Amino acid sequence: MNITDFINQMPKAELHLHIEGSFEPELMFKIAKRNGIKLTYKDIDSLKQAYNFNNLQEFLDIYYAGANVLQTEQDFYDLTWAYLEKIHSQNVIHTEIFFDPQTHTERGVAFDTVIKGINRALQDGQSKLGISYVLIMSFLRHLDEASAFETLEAALAYKDMIKAVGLDSSEVGNPPEKFQKVFEAARNEGFLTVAHAGEEGPAEYVWGALDLLKVSRIDHGNRSLEDEALIKRLVDMQIPLTVCPLSNLKLKVVKDMKDHPLKKMLQLGLKATVNSDDPAYFGGYMNENFQAVTEALDLSKAELLQLSRNAFEGSFAGEDLKQRLLQKLDEFEANN
Ligand code: HPA
Ligand code: ZN
Repeated sequence: MNITDFINQMPKAELHLHIEGSFEPELMFKIAKRNGIKLTYKDIDSLKQAYNFNNLQEFLDIYYAGANVLQTEQDFYDLTWAYLEKIHSQNVIHTEIFFDPQTHTERGVAFDTVIKGINRALQDGQSKLGISYVLIMSFLRHLDEASAFETLEAALAYKDMIKAVGLDSSEVGNPPEKFQKVFEAARNEGFLTVAHAGEEGPAEYVWGALDLLKVSRIDHGNRSLEDEALIKRLVDMQIPLTVCPLSNLKLKVVKDMKDHPLKKMLQLGLKATVNSDDPAYFGGYMNENFQAVTEALDLSKAELLQLSRNAFEGSFAGEDLKQRLLQKLDEFEANN
C-alpha cells in the first residue's frame, strides 16, 4: 500500500481540535445568511484570501470574528456535525474537541445554547458514525481569572458532558500561573486538565502547565525542545504532546515543514501526536496534516503507527474504550 493510502486508512484519534476552528467558509456564509448577519467579506474567496497569518494573534482575530456568526443551538450542531462527517471520511474514530464558551457568552450567547448544540452532534456522531468523543472546555487566556471562574461555575451544571478543561488563545504574556487557582478549582470538581503551552510561549510555560496546572497533556509543546531537563521530564512521564503541523506552518511557528520537530520528538521518545487544531483555517484535517508532515520529514509507516498509537494511548477514553480503539489500530497494522 502506498503511504497516502496508509495514512488515509489508518485508524486515528484527534486530540487537539477547536470546534470553532473547523468552521468552513461555505458553512459560515450559509449560517450568516440564516441569521441575517452581514460578513465583512463579500464572498467565500475573499474570506479565504484573508487566511494568511504571520503569528497566532493575527489568526485569532479572524477566528473570533468568524465565530460571531454562531448564534443558535442549531448553528453549533451544524458546525460540529460538519466536522464529524469530515473526519469520518478520514478514518478518525475518536476525537477530543475543545470549545471556547467565553467566545460566545461574551457576546450574549448562552452557555446552554453552545454546549447543547455541540453535545447533540457529538451524540449523533457516536450513534450514526461510530465516532467516540470527549469534550474539553477551554478558557481564553487573554481574559481574566474572574471570567474563567464564571465559566467554570457555568460548566458545573453540564459536568456529565465535559471531561476536561484547557487553556487557549494568546499565549505570550498570559502564563499558566494566571490560571493556577481556576485550574485547581476545576481539578477539585473532577475535571482533567490540559493546556496550550510552548506554541509561541517559552519552555517555562510548559513547566508551568505541568507543575502549576497539573496537566495530563500539553497542547503543541514545540518549544519544549529548547530545554533538556524538560524533555527528560516529558519523556519520563510520557506526557502526550498534541502537535499540529499545518497550524505550526500557517502561524509561522516553523518556517518550513522540513524544519518541523515532529520526527525529532519521536526520536527523543516524546509521546507526540498529530492533530489539526483549526482545520478550516490552516488548510487541512487529520489526513492532510499526516500527509504534509510525512512528505516533509519522510516518516515511515512505523512512525505513522507510533503517532496513531500515541494518540489512542494519550486519549481520555476510558480503559475499555481505549483497548477497543487500540485493537482497531493493531488489526490495521497486522493487515498492512
Ligand atoms: N493556539 C491558541 N489558541 C487557539 C489556537 C491555537 O493554536 N487555536 C484556537 N485557539
Ligand atoms: Zn489549539
